[in-house]
Amino acid sequence: MNKNNLNKDQIDLGRVPKHVAIIMDGNGRWAKNHGQGRLFGHANGVESIRSVLQGCGEIGIKYLTIYAFSTENWNRPKSEIEGLMNLLVDTIASEVEELNKNGVRMSTVGDPSLLPLNCQESLERMQEITKDNDKIHLQIALNYSARWDIITTVKNISKDVKQGVLSAEEIDEKIINQYSCFSGIPDPELLIRTSGECRISNFMLWQLAYTELYFTEVLWPDFRKDHLFEAIINYQSRERRFGKISEQLEE
Ligand code: IPE
Ligand code: IPE
Ligand code: MG
Repeated sequence: MNKNNLNKDQIDLGRVPKHVAIIMDGNGRWAKNHGQGRLFGHANGVESIRSVLQGCGEIGIKYLTIYAFSTENWNRPKSEIEGLMNLLVDTIASEVEELNKNGVRMSTVGDPSLLPLNCQESLERMQEITKDNDKIHLQIALNYSARWDIITTVKNISKDVKQGVLSAEEIDEKIINQYSCFSGIPDPELLIRTSGECRISNFMLWQLAYTELYFTEVLWPDFRKDHLFEAIINYQSRERRFGKISEQLEE
């Protein structure tokens, strides 16, 4: 038995998170380490997504949210942005059939309206083709930021309050969840960020309130399902107290 099988065997399948969120970081540094341009790193990150999705399927993770392009990423060089958008369209075109066969539902969170038109079309097609799948739900955060989501949520709630659909007194956590772009999706129990950076970078601020955070030095293009399994084992070793004390959890 190799080390990787051993790792997977250590996972308690009864306590696997329903939802894992990932900040896929380190593509640029990985490319540099390989003497290549940044786009080479992004292209190699696709295999990591494939492997992690497969890993999620193997252990029964139902929701996977990946941070692919933040609202702040528009500040990158134009050529990198174009390369990323083309990679997205090409990857959807080459992968959608196989993912559909494997029961993967795919959708996006974020504001697609600023993305190039061909990108928007390919995302719409991807969502339409896979909308009835229920093995695993892959959400791609694109032109997404948590503050954008909070602002949009507040605007939409305000509209409904103004129109009398909702009263201000009714606003609670459930209502905010309902109006956010993660409506109907459970909060992630685990967040993984690769590449050694220990920050949230405007990702899922509301939803991460009680999420376990896991930071690894592994650069995203090197990340595989075995790294995911390592993260899950680490997650399962933690005590999630939600404000209580240890002794209360045994009751
Ligand atoms: C993450 O890798 C991918 C995106 C943000 C699109 P980076 O491109 O941020 O890689 P580093 O952090 O520069 O190494
Ligand atoms: C966060 O990575 C965004 C995505 C992974 C899409 P960045 O590399 O853009 O984050 P910062 O700017 O270093 O915090
Ligand atoms: Mg980065």
